[in-house]
Amino acid sequence: MQKLSSLTLPWPTDWAALFGARRPLILEIGFGYGAFLLHLARQHPDTNIIGVEIANRCLAHVERRIAREGWPNVRVVHSTAETALHHLFEPASLWQIHVNFPDPWFKKRHGHRRLMQRDTLDAVVNRLQPGGRFYLATDIREYAEMSAALLADTPGLENLLPAAWAEDLPGRVLTRYEGKARREGRPCYYFAYRRTAVPPPPLPSVQELPMPHIVFRSPLSLDDIQAQFAPMQHTVGQVYISLLEAYRGRHKLLFEVFVKEPTIEQHFAFTLARRPEPGEYTLQLGTLGHARPTPGVHLAAGLLGDWLATLHPDNLELKRKLKE
Ligand SMILES: C[S@@+](CC[C@H](N)C(=O)[O-])C[C@H]1O[C@@H](n2cnc3c(N)ncnc32)[C@H](O)[C@@H]1O
Repeated sequence: MQKLSSLTLPWPTDWAALFGARRPLILEIGFGYGAFLLHLARQHPDTNIIGVEIANRCLAHVERRIAREGWPNVRVVHSTAETALHHLFEPASLWQIHVNFPDPWFKKRHGHRRLMQRDTLDAVVNRLQPGGRFYLATDIREYAEMSAALLADTPGLENLLPAAWAEDLPGRVLTRYEGKARREGRPCYYFAYRRTAVPPPPLPSVQELPMPHIVFRSPLSLDDIQAQFAPMQHTVGQVYISLLEAYRGRHKLLFEVFVKEPTIEQHFAFTLARRPEPGEYTLQLGTLGHARPTPGVHLAAGLLGDWLATLHPDNLELKRKLKE
C-alpha cells in the first residue's frame, strides 16, 4: 500500500477517490499504536477513516496491521495535525475529529506548539461539517482546564456534556495511553462537542504557488559560491527560514533549507546549477524533501537569491520568478 504524507498528497485531497467510495470522513489526530483508530473502523464500517501521526514507528505499526488484517476504510498519513487540518481537508468536510491524549509533556514543552490552541481549534471548527463532532481526551488536569477554557471560547462548537468534561464515557474503547493512565490510577477527562451552524472562522490561506525560479549571471564558479556560504537564519513575519548548508555535487550546489510557516514545516533543498549559457546559473527547488512551493519557500528562495547577488560586484540577476 502506498505510504501517504501531507507533503505528497494533493491539497486538498480527494478522499472519495483515494478510498474508492464517498463516505462520511472521520479523522483521528495522533493515533499512536492505532487501537482506537481500528476500533472506529470496526464501529463505523460505512465511513472513511483517516489517522494522522508524526511518529514513524506508530505509522509503520498501523500500516502493517492494515496490510495484514485488511481494513478497506482506514488510511494513515504522515502529517502534523496542523498541516493535515489546513491542507488536506475542505471546509465542512469532516464528520468526526478525535484527539486522544495529546501533548503528554505539555508543561515541559511550554512555549512550543501545543495541539490544543486557538489556531488549531479554529481549523477543527472550519473542517467539521455542521452537526459534526469533536472529541478530546486527556489525563492531565491542567490540560483539561486549559482545553475547557479554549473550547468554551470557541464559536461554532457546543458542548454535548452536562459539564465541561466527563471523567468516564461508558462503552469507550481504551487507547494504549489511556489504559496505562487508568492502571496507574490517573483520572481521565473527556470532552464531546458538536459543530453548530455558526459560519466557520476564516483560516490563514497558505497556498501552493508556482515553482520558484531565479536565473543569474556570475563570474564565480560553484566552488567559489560554496566557499562563501555560511549558515543563515531569518524571520520574516511568521515565517522562520534557516539556510543550513551548501553541498557540492558534480554539476550542482545543493542548499539544505528549513522553513517553518504557520501551517507547515518543511526541510528540503534548493539546487543551483549551471545553464548552457556561459556564466549563467539557475536556482530552483530540488526534489529532495518533496517541498511544496508555499509562500515561505518562495521567501527562502528570495533570501538565497539576495545572498547570491552580494557575492560578486558583477553578479547580475536575469530572471526572478517569485511571489515575495
Ligand atoms: C501521548 S501519545 C497518545 C497516543 C494515542 N492517541 C493513545 O492515546 O494511546 C500522543 C501522540 O500524538 C502524536 N502527536 C504529537 N503531536 C502531534 C501533532 N502535532 N500532529 C500529529 N500527531 C501528533 C505523537 O506522536 C503520539 O503518538
